[in-house]
Amino acid sequence: MEPLELSPPTAERVRLAERVVVFSGAGVSRESGLDTFRGAGGLWERMRPEELATPQAFRADPAKVWRWYAWRYGQAAAAAPNPAHDAIARLETLFPSVLVVTQNVDGLHQRAGSRNLLELHGTITRAVCERCGRSREMAGAVAESSERPPVCACGGRFRPAVVWFGEALPEAALVRAYEEATFCDLFISVGTSGTVYPAAGLIELAHQAGACLIEVNPEPTPFSRLMDLRLAAPAGEAFPALVEAMAIERSRDREEPIIG
Ligand code: OAD
Repeated sequence: MEPLELSPPTAERVRLAERVVVFSGAGVSRESGLDTFRGAGGLWERMRPEELATPQAFRADPAKVWRWYAWRYGQAAAAAPNPAHDAIARLETLFPSVLVVTQNVDGLHQRAGSRNLLELHGTITRAVCERCGRSREMAGAVAESSERPPVCACGGRFRPAVVWFGEALPEAALVRAYEEATFCDLFISVGTSGTVYPAAGLIELAHQAGACLIEVNPEPTPFSRLMDLRLAAPAGEAFPALVEAMAIERSRDREEPIIG
């Protein structure tokens, strides 16, 4: 992508910003080889969410649901962070406070080095006993049994530590995400269709609270018209260019005034 030039109002917001929220979705991991959910080639084109990503589905056919998550875990574990994940992690060197709020369960933001992270839809890297809540690495759980959920010492079944449709999001994480969206100066939405609530409500909240809004997504979303800056390109290209442009603005801010 060409070097990016920020418009004067956006450049000013970037220069003065202290708190940044990055809100990410499946599109940010597309260039790591992981499928998105919606759109051409998306997972929900080939599979039905209600047969795989609900508590009812797990009760009805635990082996089918476990196999699907074991497969997705294998893909995520074999994938590597891409330049978008790396650029997002780099933001922490530019702003005093950066929070990544992700809907992704693949663990790639952590692996790229993002330290301040909320996983609103849980993580595929761990399994949790549906009865006693004991948690363990997904790697060990899948190695023990890739065909059906392993059984816990308490007799309960292990399930992936993700949030399914119809389940509540982790409350503390959601409250913190809403708080940060309310008080941030920059809110960057990347690789999300913005169609799944309550997570997508963060974009509206940041807009109402007056944050500078940036969207990185090759396709328009229901929130595109609210954006101060929209980069219609793959995140692996657009995000590094965005962070580079931000770094230039931030270094301007730090330049000492010349006296005398
Ligand atoms: P979606 O699959 O709904 O949307 C992915 C978005 O990524 C789309 O808007 C694409 O245009 C965009 N996209 C595709 N390739 C991209 C690229 N290279 N760079 C940037 N953007 C790209 O995924 P999410 O919004 O994450 O929930 O979906 C939200 C939730 O719905 C998921 O967390 C999951 C799903 O069902 C549960 O499983 C509970």
